[in-house]
Amino acid sequence: MSISISTTKLKLPHHLSHDTSTSTSTSTSTSSVSAVVLLKNLLLLLLLWTDYTIHYSFALSGFGVSRVCVSAAFGGVGQLVGQFAKLMGCYVVGSAGNVSQVNLLKSKFGFDEAFNYREEHYLDAALKRYFSEGIDIYFENVGGKMLDAVLLNMRDHGRIVICGMISQYNLDRPERVGNLFLDFVLLLIKQGKIAYAEDITQGLENAPAALARVFSGFNMGKQVLAVSPQ
Ligand SMILES: NC(=O)c1ccc[n+]([C@@H]2O[C@H](COP(=O)([O-])OP(=O)(O)OC[C@H]3O[C@@H](n4cnc5c(N)ncnc54)[C@H](OP(=O)(O)O)[C@@H]3O)[C@@H](O)[C@H]2O)c1
Repeated sequence: MSISISTTKLKLPHHLSHDTSTSTSTSTSTSSVSAVVLLKNLLLLLLLWTDYTIHYSFALSGFGVSRVCVSAAFGGVGQLVGQFAKLMGCYVVGSAGNVSQVNLLKSKFGFDEAFNYREEHYLDAALKRYFSEGIDIYFENVGGKMLDAVLLNMRDHGRIVICGMISQYNLDRPERVGNLFLDFVLLLIKQGKIAYAEDITQGLENAPAALARVFSGFNMGKQVLAVSPQ
């Protein structure tokens, strides 16, 4: 079923399509042999195109229509991502920073839905409003709170494409992302099923040496500098 969805939604581009009626009327010297060759080539082209669309839609969705979320959707990257996803038959929702951008995403760029992240006090609830069955693909441009909320709404086997995290670049300290596999990982750590090596150097005065160890490859595991016993 998903195959027919993806193949019927995508059309052969104009410059690749051939109208057989025009080719027969314009060329009286076209032999039956060249007509067969043309038909064969057309068939091959169609098969390749179909294979391409199927392959791509499978790469995107697995089965059915993918639900795609794009952050910073009105930015240079987001605008294109949303349009490509729509052309591939996905359901696409974008977040942007004001109501004019939200409206344009829907009216001009063809997004199914869009919302103003600045007006949403609970991003998790906003995402649930647009993705009642969860998100298949998240195209990440902003990071921080948005990423944290998206993680709560990802479907099993969903995918996150990380392009950038613009909300974090100018912060002194990055925002905490708390919803990243914590249930899974914490349990494994508590059960002692995860081994983790740290290379601890004592004392702030040894910071340059600790840093040098990282670049020379002498650190045995995560290099940590203990500045005080507390
Ligand atoms: N363009 C490239 O060549 C390139 C290459 C590699 C990676 N990237 C990454 O791709 C992402 C998007 O880049 P772009 O070129 O599309 O940028 P852009 O055209 O300059 O747009 C930036 C977008 O980010 C949004 N934004 C800014 N601060 C934000 C915040 N704190 N929270 C949420 N959204 C915020 C802005 O919307 P509002 O101000 O309305 O929120 C704006 O729509 C960035 O993470 C960037 O680092 C871009």
